[in-house]
Amino acid sequence: MTNSNDIKVSEELRDIQGGAIGFFKDHERFLFINCADAVTGKAFLTELEPTLANGLEVRRFNEAFSENRRHNGDPDALQSTWVNILISRTGLAFIGAPGLETFPDEFAAGMGARNALIGDVGTSDPSTWQAPFTGGAEPHAVIILAGDNLADLDARRTKIEEMLARHGVTIIGRQDGDARPAPFGGHEHFGFKDGVSQPAIEKFTKSGKGGTIPPGDVFIGYPDSEGNISGQPVSTPPPAPTPYNPTPVPPQPQPLPDWTRNGSFVVLRKLRQDVGGFNTSMANAAPGIGLTPDQLAAKAFGRWPSGAPMEQVSDCPVTGNPALTDPSIEAPAILDAKNINAFDFTDDPDGNNVPRGSHIRKMNPRKDVLPDGDTSDKHRLVRRGIAYGPEFTPGEPAYGQTVPDNQDRGLLFINYQASIARFFEFVQSHWANREDFQQPGDGKDPIISQDTPDGPFNVPGHGQVNFARWVTTVGGGYFFAPSLSGLRTLTK
Ligand code: HEM
Repeated sequence: MTNSNDIKVSEELRDIQGGAIGFFKDHERFLFINCADAVTGKAFLTELEPTLANGLEVRRFNEAFSENRRHNGDPDALQSTWVNILISRTGLAFIGAPGLETFPDEFAAGMGARNALIGDVGTSDPSTWQAPFTGGAEPHAVIILAGDNLADLDARRTKIEEMLARHGVTIIGRQDGDARPAPFGGHEHFGFKDGVSQPAIEKFTKSGKGGTIPPGDVFIGYPDSEGNISGQPVSTPPPAPTPYNPTPVPPQPQPLPDWTRNGSFVVLRKLRQDVGGFNTSMANAAPGIGLTPDQLAAKAFGRWPSGAPMEQVSDCPVTGNPALTDPSIEAPAILDAKNINAFDFTDDPDGNNVPRGSHIRKMNPRKDVLPDGDTSDKHRLVRRGIAYGPEFTPGEPAYGQTVPDNQDRGLLFINYQASIARFFEFVQSHWANREDFQQPGDGKDPIISQDTPDGPFNVPGHGQVNFARWVTTVGGGYFFAPSLSGLRTLTK
């Protein structure tokens, strides 16, 4: 396993699948597949592997793209189409992957079986999930195609489909992901700019606009933020359960097999967003606590739809109250990379600007002091998701028991990590879904706590509202993104 000082980044990046680095494309196509048997499954993977995008080419392309946009302003001048594959526990078992018994419990169980912990109950219960995730089922694998140009993307998909057919691999589901059209590109369906705070992966991605995390928080085989090497056994005993952390993550008992090095665990969730319901909730609840619907919606996220912070930013101070009026109107430079994340809540301990229950403060409490000596930095999420579904039309029928395809929209949430228990599951169950995180009365994350129909949300200085749920889990699974060398080992 690798010491951080010995990392030859280019070599490692050449081995890593590029999706973890970030495709950041406007269009993605997902093919959910099942193999007929191990032999044909391996034959397919053998043919697919040389065509997969690695981290180095994706990183170089992204850098060239940004450079080109800065100098020429032409986003279409550089285009690419990338392909990656994620494999589920079922898929790995099916092709006889060695050492699966050393994989963590949550991965072995799968997302559907972890529903009580992560709050997929009621209308988000796996029994309600769409194919191919029906009842919590997981496909053997997911092929992700990502591209700038739809014609190129379709051509590449056709080639992959021919390859699948040749090997007798069945497509059991399809999903399209598309950035919203201009002027909403980069915004999720409730209207807020997404992907604003993203941690850079030390040495592997360019330093970004949301802090830096060690490679072992994302990839197997590297030092992580707990001081361990990801995928290696931990010598210290697990901490005793506490009220803050009643379910400590069991230590890795044995090393993960060598073929997992440079791989990453991936959470994929199809989260449906009820835009009409969200708008109605804001309109109904805001007047009762002396806010406008737009202000309440911003308080629920902890940012303005533009992405602007609701805190004062020292290099871009504004005369108005940034918690009540979007500060980018007065100071557009607040949206620049160096300013947009230049706040850490130390000036806002009570949440008068950004409620402690808001989505971004739940997901990244920054410098807030957490129980048990825990810190926000140990649970940063590397998000690589994309929006799906058609645009919302004002006046369209409210969501009922069933949602027609032409109204089905939301977020394909995707994140990469070295441990699903320590990253996705921890923040979803211990932070988002808990009314008493950080403090009793803060309320649940109003955006992603899918477990109750009337979650309380506290807006300090204004009052408490009880929100309906507008985000429903309609499918998802836990996957592993093996490295390219790992895939070659698996297919031997
Ligand atoms: C439909 C569901 C969701 C919507 C509409 C949504 C939307 C947003 C928006 C608008 C932001 C602020 C901009 C940014 O920093 O990217 C954000 C931040 C974030 N979201 Fe979500 N999100 C959703 C689901 C999730 C889920 C399921 C998780 C993980 C459990 C998550 C984790 C995060 C994290 C880690 C941040 C960055 C926090 C920070 O560092 O400030 N989101 N999300």
